[in-house]
Amino acid sequence: MEASQNLKTPPKFINTPANFMKDDDVSEECKNLISSLPTSENDFTGKKLYNYQGSWYYPNTIQAILNFQKHFRPRDSDIILASLPKSGTTWLKALVFAVVHRNKYAPNLVSHPLLSNNPHNLVRFLEVDLYVKNQCPGLEELPSPRIFATHVPFQKLHESLRDSPCKVVYVCRNIKDALVSRWHFRSKIVSNYLLEDMINEYIKGAYFFGPIEEQILSYWKESLVNSNLVLFMRYEEMIEKPVAQVMRLADFLGCSFSEEEKQSGMVEKILELCSLGNLSNLEANKIGTSTCGIAHHAFFRKGGVGDWKNHLTDEMARKLDEMVEKKLKVQG
Ligand code: A3P
Repeated sequence: MEASQNLKTPPKFINTPANFMKDDDVSEECKNLISSLPTSENDFTGKKLYNYQGSWYYPNTIQAILNFQKHFRPRDSDIILASLPKSGTTWLKALVFAVVHRNKYAPNLVSHPLLSNNPHNLVRFLEVDLYVKNQCPGLEELPSPRIFATHVPFQKLHESLRDSPCKVVYVCRNIKDALVSRWHFRSKIVSNYLLEDMINEYIKGAYFFGPIEEQILSYWKESLVNSNLVLFMRYEEMIEKPVAQVMRLADFLGCSFSEEEKQSGMVEKILELCSLGNLSNLEANKIGTSTCGIAHHAFFRKGGVGDWKNHLTDEMARKLDEMVEKKLKVQG
């Protein structure tokens, strides 16, 4: 498939891109590094991406990764949530927050923080939020357990964790559903963004936080050899067996549900609190912008499994299946 004209013409913005998509705020050290890196074509924002140690980023994100690597001091009790964009990050953030803090905030509490805050403000991204704005964002002052999120591959994260035994939870989603979700998401930033362009990017591998194999395989492999450190979850399994998956999550995080909690319906209450229906209807998620510069409502759409069938032609689906098969199998 040839790249369409769309990526070559200047994008027409209908909303402001997030801070981390910019290239305006980098140090001399970062500029020097970037000048030596492979460059992509202009992406949907009209900006170039740079390949830093296997993955593609905007300059601000590379700066944030450098800041994070230099200044982050992990605690053994830290919890890091990792994913590719549009794979269920918002849901995972809400669930982990609710599970970990259930003794402090009962899920049916009328003042539960998830009722008045977007999950992305309660569990903040390291490289697309906290370290974009600040070399030292004051994380030492946060109480334990701290919960953060990231989209960087495991190796990058691992360097900064410096052998700390903190817990990493990865959520993976069917690539076709994640791609369609991301296309909808980007279509809220620029007009006339073609699904074909998105597919071409995925096939070439040069897109923000791509390619998939750098990301998914790095966490998958680590979860196999180091199951105490990395839990690999699948969005589809969370949809299919939510209670079992939330209990699995709690077991991994070292805060299993007691029999009494199970009997009292604690797991179901957490699931209801964190459901797409509940979160997307909250006033706090209908208005406002998250700390990473994205409108709260943009994180919620349809959810579920298989929406790709409503958007991709058979030919598009075949190409993507072929790509996934090749990329994940060759190295798997
Ligand atoms: P769709 O666009 O397919 O609806 P991320 O959180 O990684 O950005 O992923 C966003 C996707 O997760 C969107 O998918 C969104 O609707 C879905 N999502 C957001 N919150 C959810 C929740 N609480 N439960 C299930 N899916 C959710």
